[in-house]
Amino acid sequence: MIRITKPGRLRLAVLASGRGSNFEAICQAIEEERLNAEIVLVISDKKNAPVLNKAQTRKIDFFHIAPEDYPDKAAYEQEIIKRLKEYDITLVVLAGYMRLIGKELLKAYQWKIINIHPALLPSFPGLNAQQQAIDYGVKFSGCTVHFVDDGVDSGPIIMQRVVPVLPEDSAEALAERILIEEHQVYAEALQLLAKGQIYLDGRRVIIK
Ligand code: GAR
Repeated sequence: MIRITKPGRLRLAVLASGRGSNFEAICQAIEEERLNAEIVLVISDKKNAPVLNKAQTRKIDFFHIAPEDYPDKAAYEQEIIKRLKEYDITLVVLAGYMRLIGKELLKAYQWKIINIHPALLPSFPGLNAQQQAIDYGVKFSGCTVHFVDDGVDSGPIIMQRVVPVLPEDSAEALAERILIEEHQVYAEALQLLAKGQIYLDGRRVIIK
């Protein structure tokens, strides 16, 4: 069994591709002292991602690192790793980062990369999780905070929240309801890591 983090203030890097509402929710949890952490760095693969403006407003250092500027994924991720090391990051938090994490990053930050996914994994991994849930006809979906491994949304599960799927739900309506839970559960999971309460036993996450 391995302990993921020792108790103490987390130094977080957020990787995001878009809107950044989970980023904002984490910032808010820090401000309200529900989370003992600091976001020291935001990285986006998308130049015009709103999350970058949000980071700027909050005076958090941010970088746009464009995958197309590098010969391959390994070189792109090496650039990310360079920044993460510069900022002495404890954890990498994926918040709507719409790319698969490659070997380089996984090796450099093993069990130090976490993600939030808008479904109850292992159901509905990958893109359009909310639409997948509606199309399948499940009565409940939700969100999952998990460690990132080399599969698609397949890493050890830290926490989940259940959200009912309503008969008239559109993907957007369901996404909105799931998002409310995402904003809560991500900060809670991170706080468990800040308190050093998270252990990994095989693929089971133990909260002590
Ligand atoms: C969130 O719903 C998150 O769960 C999802 O993207 C959205 C990002 O919103 N992530 C994925 O689908 C990852 N596979 P945000 O930019 O407002 O945090």
